[in-house]
Amino acid sequence: MKPFNVGIIGAGHIAEKMAATLARMEDASCLAIGSRTLSKAQTFAERFDIPRAYGSYDELIADPDVDLVYVATPHSHHFDVTRRAILAGKPCLVEKSFMADASEAAAVIALAREKGVFVAEAIWIRYMPVRDIARKVLASGVIGKPVTAFASLAYNVSEKERILSPELGGGALLDLGVYLLNFVRMYFDEPIEQISSSCIKAETGVDASESITLTLSGGILATLQASGWSQGDNQGVIAGTTGYLVFDDLINPTRLRVCRKRHVVEQEIPLPEQITGFEYQVRACRDAIAAGLVEPSKMPHAETLYIMHLMDRLRTEWGVKGFE
Ligand SMILES: NC(=O)c1ccc[n+]([C@@H]2O[C@H](COP(=O)([O-])OP(=O)(O)OC[C@H]3O[C@@H](n4cnc5c(N)ncnc54)[C@H](OP(=O)(O)O)[C@@H]3O)[C@@H](O)[C@H]2O)c1
Repeated sequence: MKPFNVGIIGAGHIAEKMAATLARMEDASCLAIGSRTLSKAQTFAERFDIPRAYGSYDELIADPDVDLVYVATPHSHHFDVTRRAILAGKPCLVEKSFMADASEAAAVIALAREKGVFVAEAIWIRYMPVRDIARKVLASGVIGKPVTAFASLAYNVSEKERILSPELGGGALLDLGVYLLNFVRMYFDEPIEQISSSCIKAETGVDASESITLTLSGGILATLQASGWSQGDNQGVIAGTTGYLVFDDLINPTRLRVCRKRHVVEQEIPLPEQITGFEYQVRACRDAIAAGLVEPSKMPHAETLYIMHLMDRLRTEWGVKGFE
């Protein structure tokens, strides 16, 4: 089988995780790293045994052997890089949040569709096996009818320039809250009817911590809390009429637990062993590209756009800097 060659753009924190994942995959590999600084690209390439290092993003995009460009820059820079890659005919996997706002997302998706080039959001929880496993548990009726959900995600990343800066698309929502909105959309098919929320802002004007309550049709309530200024336990719980389902880690669960009442565990469902969990999104891209698709079935463009619109709406309500 022809190797599936990934090129990484932006030699930062999450690029390291992707490079480490690709180094352990048998069905894909990292061919190239592109950085704004050649020496940084070379150091990164040496660390992860990557054959090609480029001192500009455009050089990586122009490499004819790169099958997929993984965009790992701050949100504020996703648009420009992805647009250039699509214009060069290169399929892209773009880190979450997909773009800085919904208008950028709509423009990139329209361009990809017009050019017939694949583009996908790297929201890894959408592509992991836990999604289908948990949906089957819910459909089995073991917790009765799901009625409420609670999910939280908090990491203290408040020292990071990318998180603090309005210009780089900072704040908790684009970094962490996006997972919570996806969590609800992955496990509930009912439409969101109402949203209420509150937000604490950082001194720079970005959203530091937020709570979001979603009312879904059919009498379902989801309460979500994200913070980039505290460390949380990052659990997710879906509660039904006869029990509840616990995700021990919302973004990378190691097991699912079905409980009836007072924390009595009725069932513990182990999840498949994985490299880091990033491999699934790479495989989803490879398969969709091979099938001639412009989007992956696990995260269709319409869904990426829907979430981007929700986040625009929330940031407008909060008066987040850049969204007043
Ligand atoms: N899926 C996940 O679990 C996960 C986790 C964390 C972050 N992310 C996402 O990944 C993306 C990058 O986050 P990160 O934590 O890896 O960020 P980071 O450590 O700050 O790295 C971002 C990289 O982007 C490049 N860049 C281009 N323009 C820049 C600018 N003006 N300022 C700073 N960097 C710039 C830099 O690479 P060069 O200097 O090499 O050009 C930098 O190293 C974000 O969209 C974030 O939401 C995803």
